Amino acid sequence: MEQKFIPKSLAASKESGKVTWQTPSNIALVKYWGKKNPQLPENTSISFTLSNCHTTTTLTYGKRKDVKGTYDFKVILDGKEEEDFKPKIETFFKRIERYVPFLREYTFVIDTKNSFPHSSGIASSASGMSAIALCLMSIEKEININLTEEAFYQKASFLARLGSGSACRSVKGDIVVWGAHENIEGSSDLYGIPYVDGVASIFKNYQDTILLIDKGEKQVSSTVGHNLMHGHPFAEQRFLQAQENINKIKDIFANSDVDQFIELVESEALTLHAMMMTSHPYFILMKPNTLEVINKVWTYRKKTGSKLCFTLDAGANVHLLYPEIEKEAVQEFIKSKLAIYCKDKSFIHDCVGSGAKQLKI
Ligand code: DP6
Repeated sequence: MEQKFIPKSLAASKESGKVTWQTPSNIALVKYWGKKNPQLPENTSISFTLSNCHTTTTLTYGKRKDVKGTYDFKVILDGKEEEDFKPKIETFFKRIERYVPFLREYTFVIDTKNSFPHSSGIASSASGMSAIALCLMSIEKEININLTEEAFYQKASFLARLGSGSACRSVKGDIVVWGAHENIEGSSDLYGIPYVDGVASIFKNYQDTILLIDKGEKQVSSTVGHNLMHGHPFAEQRFLQAQENINKIKDIFANSDVDQFIELVESEALTLHAMMMTSHPYFILMKPNTLEVINKVWTYRKKTGSKLCFTLDAGANVHLLYPEIEKEAVQEFIKSKLAIYCKDKSFIHDCVGSGAKQLKI
């Protein structure tokens, strides 16, 4: 199956050029936690694409005089050369070289910036890796002009996955599924696809406010985290549960069932953390303020009948999800009652977005 992503002949034809993509972050509703080589998920996941949290990457490329040794690239983050990112990108390049044969033929400058603060604890790997993947696909498109739009995005997602699993969900669509699922046509372990089965309008413009509880370095890298699922006592059960939760969320989306949405999304978040708490070694990634916020959300919901709910990544930050009609009330609640639990009272209002965009700059 991967064979189809190996181009027949792709000698680099253009001397030099420049391409820019703006790619979003995403928040998983049914989580990806556990993978096999090479970057294949143990279960299907589904996410909302975000709008305001994004990465903008300009890839400048020029033919190398003599192609010796390994890849030739540098990374610039917010205008400053960043050596720390190079190993991750080097690994990414190694994984994708079979599919992107011109990689060694060019000198690359990867100039990147995030719309969210670097130290916010918001994962930049999803938007960062999808941006590089899309830039490389734009170069491929110049060489292979017959590439269809569908093939372009599918391969971009395929490449992004090899950089970071969740990055394959940051390419195209407002709701994205990654991982083969018997009830989702076209779904694949190799790339994410836009979820196009029925979605009630309430979910089309869902809001997500990210509370920055702890801005520090991640305590557990995602690679270490995913590895914890190997030999985990509850792994098999968890993977089955995720497949079942995809069936449930399909019905929820189709039937506009917000109460079931809340139950499923919160349970997924807590299950992700439960997996970390019950692995060896074990971790608690929530902070006291994460729990404070969760309790406040539950009380608020009970008191007001609001449809506000939370989800979590593999860290202490809280994503608050709510329908657009509640925007004013919930944002007031966040400002007056929850901001105090955030580092420097900081949070980011976001909402469902439509996917990556190429910028002409
Ligand atoms: C908890 O995509 O960051 O956010 O494939 O190792 O790069 P790698 O992992 P990554 O894992 C994300 C895990 C998660 C859940 C999710 O986004 O589905």
